Amino acid sequence: MTLNVFRFDPEAGRPPRYDRFPVEAMPGMSLLEALTEIAERQDPSLAFRYSCRGAVCGSCAMSVQGRPRLACQTQLKDLRGEVLVAPLPHLPVIKDLVVEMGPFYQRFEEIMPYLIRRTPPPERELLQAPRERRLLDEVADCVWCGACYASCPTVRQGPSYLGPAALLQAYRFAADSRDEGGREGLRLVDREEGVWRCHTVFNCVEVCPKKINPARAIQALKRKALLGRFKLW
Ligand code: SF4
Ligand code: FES
Repeated sequence: MTLNVFRFDPEAGRPPRYDRFPVEAMPGMSLLEALTEIAERQDPSLAFRYSCRGAVCGSCAMSVQGRPRLACQTQLKDLRGEVLVAPLPHLPVIKDLVVEMGPFYQRFEEIMPYLIRRTPPPERELLQAPRERRLLDEVADCVWCGACYASCPTVRQGPSYLGPAALLQAYRFAADSRDEGGREGLRLVDREEGVWRCHTVFNCVEVCPKKINPARAIQALKRKALLGRFKLW
């Protein structure tokens, strides 16, 4: 198998290119392991980001054959022939496969991703019924990898769009029975660059490595935003 890996070092002053690396695909080998082997045996200057190796930290997201994936979750046996490996789209490249995640995290800050409380805290923890907690199960699995953001055509058209991951987090707090932010939180997403820019293309659903459905969360936020305008909740 051959990996064609995107190479770019802004400090070197050379245009981007793809380098070809032959890899012996061993049974059970992940793309991350292949990249690690290339860095150890063929080119130690190859830059890529990873941490947990277990699809938990979200840091190894990259474009594989044009589709955002986690390198540690991608098995070589599922890839064929010449494989194109590139940095996540829609984010500035720092070096090779490493992108600047700042613009992606900035979107999270815009939606105030934390519980807002109006009443004094209870003496002990804030309790939730199991059915209330179940509403959060899926969204709590998000590893902030940016795959959905990188696959979204609306993000490509205008980077000021909040994007699927930040809107998913907005839903996570809007749906949390302990949150008392209510309409204040919704105001942050009920705007042109918020939920109303989502055109339900569903790329985010296709690529999410944690099988989350950000599009469904965005539709739920749209419903809440409309009901809020008519003061129905
Ligand atoms: S919703 Fe899925 S694809 Fe998007 S950041 Fe979270 S884990 Fe990654
Ligand atoms: S290394 Fe943590 S998700 Fe891949």
